[in-house]
Amino acid sequence: MDYLEKQRTGNLTRKILVVSGITALFLFMLNRSPATSGSTKFSRHEQGVTHVLVTGGAGYIGSHAVLRLLKDSYRVTIVDNLSRGNIGAVKILQGLYPEPGRLQFIYADLGDATAVNKIFSENAFDAVMHFAAVAYVGESTAEPLRYYHNITSNTLLILKAMATHGIKTLIYSSTCATYGEPDKMPITETTPQLPINPYGKAKKMAEDMILDFSKTSKMAVMILRYFNVIGSDPEGRLGESPRPELREQGRISGACFDAARGIISGLKIRGTDYSTSDGTCVRDYIDVTDLIDAHVKALAHAVPGKVGIYNVGTGKGSSVKEFVEACKKATGVDIKVDYLSRRPGDYAEVYSDPSKIKNELNWTAKYTNLEQSLSVAWRWQKAHRNGYDNNKF
Ligand SMILES: NC(=O)c1ccc[n+]([C@@H]2O[C@H](COP(=O)([O-])OP(=O)(O)OC[C@H]3O[C@@H](n4cnc5c(N)ncnc54)[C@H](O)[C@@H]3O)[C@@H](O)[C@H]2O)c1
Repeated sequence: MDYLEKQRTGNLTRKILVVSGITALFLFMLNRSPATSGSTKFSRHEQGVTHVLVTGGAGYIGSHAVLRLLKDSYRVTIVDNLSRGNIGAVKILQGLYPEPGRLQFIYADLGDATAVNKIFSENAFDAVMHFAAVAYVGESTAEPLRYYHNITSNTLLILKAMATHGIKTLIYSSTCATYGEPDKMPITETTPQLPINPYGKAKKMAEDMILDFSKTSKMAVMILRYFNVIGSDPEGRLGESPRPELREQGRISGACFDAARGIISGLKIRGTDYSTSDGTCVRDYIDVTDLIDAHVKALAHAVPGKVGIYNVGTGKGSSVKEFVEACKKATGVDIKVDYLSRRPGDYAEVYSDPSKIKNELNWTAKYTNLEQSLSVAWRWQKAHRNGYDNNKF
């Protein structure tokens, strides 16, 4: 083969590669677009079918919510920009419920008003579960504007779109971080909300907007203030898989599993001289399966023109030491623990009074054994060493 011939072959190979690349990208986008997953069913209301928009449905809690909603015969649209969620979780859900009109995924940023409006114009939603958010306290202190934008301002866009398109039911993901550092435990829904970090403040502002808007609209609103969420799908289909770069920001269960796997050398417990039973901080850990059950009950009880605000916790605090012991048993690994001095800003004890949600929605936490919840989550972690391995999709 002479030089020119070699060059021609090289050019042809490049062209073939470019064309296949473009075709693959086109097929990938097509696969994500509503048109391939039964858009007609999503774009019109159907008697007896409730169509729920789940924002942040590719994330940890949102994906578990989608699984439960689909199991309960809801029609679901996920909107997520995959900034923190996993396309792998969406693919698993699509694999479980492939029938037309069950689940569609729309890749969009909720900060993009045009995109949000288009989504609402092209789909006939009956209700919105708004999970999408950035959600790390430490990060919120370092990047407050990101938090006000992503949480507060994006919720404003959702509310406007709901108003424009006449969607009347909203289930909002809020947090116990909106309470700040109350001096009286347990926390009830009337405990004053005095958040101490931008995450909690942004969520409180979003709540306030929702409440003000609900006064002038006939919206059915449920605000759920979660405590510390742990666990994963007992059948092992979904798990918690934050981006590796967010590990530092992470939550205690993630850190325990990372330590058990040897990704980090051990755990650092900050503060052993709090006025708690064993000196370490006490938190209320709620299993994600129970949390999602609270959402389904909230949706079922949502009444036009009414607002329900509920703590979602177990009502029982567990200390960090107890948590670590449970994690050691669940993983079977003798995790190394270093005890350090207190971290500024941590409060001694936080746990909920869940009696309001019990009385009004008939909800109580069932998965209250830490070791069991962590064992379930650990099983998924062990089977998914690279998380959802999004590159596969
Ligand atoms: N995990 C907890 O312990 C906890 C506790 C209290 C409250 N919450 C709340 O629960 C909700 C879900 O949290 P999570 O732990 O599942 O977090 P997560 O990061 O796993 O999920 C959030 C999802 O929202 C998506 N998202 C973020 N910004 C978006 C945007 N602008 N447009 C579209 N999608 C966007 C992300 O890609 C991700 O899939 C959040 O609102 C959080 O504040 C969580």
